Amino acid sequence: MTPRLGLLISGRGSNLQAIIEAVGDGRLEATIALVISNQAEAGGLERARNAGIETLVISHLAYERREDFDRALVEALRAHRVDLVCLAGFMRRLTAVFIDAFPRAILNIHPSLLPAFPGAHAQRDAWRHGAKVSGVTVHLVDVNLDAGPIVLQASVPVLPDDTPETLAARILEEEHRAYPEAIRLVLAGGWRIEGRRFVPR
Ligand code: GAR
Repeated sequence: MTPRLGLLISGRGSNLQAIIEAVGDGRLEATIALVISNQAEAGGLERARNAGIETLVISHLAYERREDFDRALVEALRAHRVDLVCLAGFMRRLTAVFIDAFPRAILNIHPSLLPAFPGAHAQRDAWRHGAKVSGVTVHLVDVNLDAGPIVLQASVPVLPDDTPETLAARILEEEHRAYPEAIRLVLAGGWRIEGRRFVPR
């Protein structure tokens, strides 16, 4: 059985696009079962529809409690028999309700070399800090923000004439390579977690 992915997005969806293409050209043996956005205007929804993938908008604004929003997400993903959840520019913090529903089966991509520069403005924060190297991290999601076991990282140099925008653009190119590769690694199985280390087969 081909593993089924569920993608959560909030915006542009360029990482979603990279995953769609990796599935399309056979680099990734998986089916994208569902794309959920918490933002009705997310550009990524259009990308998913163009690829013939089912989409759903679940707005966090419709729920008073974070847990109830998370429950609605879980229900939709379960209804689509999702094996692995991929957060791709999903800008909401998930509670234990969601994380416990998919143990060791939620991935996130973050535009810095974690644990440096967690949060919503990682590229700008790295640039302001004066880091000489930044990059991308794909990690398993646990209850701590941007802190689960690291599956894959790739570094990107910060150049003297970079702006936060040029740095973000170069990191993004690396994200598009890293995310499909990290998903492939996780789906291949045979890995284990030792302490907080992801140890591949
Ligand atoms: C990406 O750079 C992703 O790493 C980042 O949001 C962007 C989404 O772009 N995620 C985070 O900062 C999570 N903390 P995309 O919608 O084009 O994939």
